[in-house]
Amino acid sequence: MQKSVSLFFKGLRRIFLAITSWFDWLYCRFLFYTQNVQCKSFVTKGIPYVSVALGGRCVIGSRLAMNNGLKGNPIGRPQPCIFFVDSHAEIVIGNNVGMSSTAIVAHTSITIGNNVKIGGGVCIYDTDFHALDAEKRAMRGTDKAQANKQPVVIEDNVFIGAHSTILKGVIIGKNAIIGACSVVTRSVPPNEIWGGNPAKFIKALP
Ligand SMILES: CC(C)(COP(=O)(O)OP(=O)(O)OC[C@H]1O[C@@H](n2cnc3c(N)ncnc32)[C@H](O)[C@@H]1OP(=O)(O)O)[C@@H](O)C(=O)NCCC(=O)NCCS
Repeated sequence: MQKSVSLFFKGLRRIFLAITSWFDWLYCRFLFYTQNVQCKSFVTKGIPYVSVALGGRCVIGSRLAMNNGLKGNPIGRPQPCIFFVDSHAEIVIGNNVGMSSTAIVAHTSITIGNNVKIGGGVCIYDTDFHALDAEKRAMRGTDKAQANKQPVVIEDNVFIGAHSTILKGVIIGKNAIIGACSVVTRSVPPNEIWGGNPAKFIKALP
């Protein structure tokens, strides 16, 4: 009896997800259009948060795959994907990139290559958001303006483990892997695995 009810419920859930995914896609297309995002093609589960300021640029290649929150990829700590581009900043994403519950916040420039896999809950920041000097931080006018900013580059085929944070100025080289829950403060050479807080070399890829 339990097996039949379970099968019925799973079937219903699958139909519900198929229908809502279609609406998610449509709403996401509308969001991309209204926020001036150029995206060639994408699939989505759930709806991302998208904000591109006037003068900002967000360009995404083909076959972006997004999981937004619990619905897309139930691995814990769910949130929608976030694409935030400040004025005069940019996010550029290549082809065939997959991401779950990922926050990409650009105050200057974040570039992501092709075939990059970004695990659940990853945050990518090209800014410290706040000034390091306490007096400047205390004043609204100077706090954000004086924050350190440096472009972030994530090259082709990189795999970033869940819940990692990539900080300003970091370049992650081709094929590199970042272990789960890492905080990446320095650039990672191609073909290496790095992990921890702060992320350090673990091993070279064969
Ligand atoms: C980085 C990773 C791929 C390495 O896997 P692996 O090659 O099987 O490596 P091992 O488990 O043999 O670990 C090798 C060493 O790295 C360390 N290590 C592994 N993962 C680490 C991490 N996330 N942070 C810090 N150190 C880590 C291990 O402790 C071990 O150290 P030791 O040699 O001193 O004992 C894996 O640990 C990982 O983090 N996978 C990401 C999973 C994930 O988030 N997927 C996305 C879901 S959406």
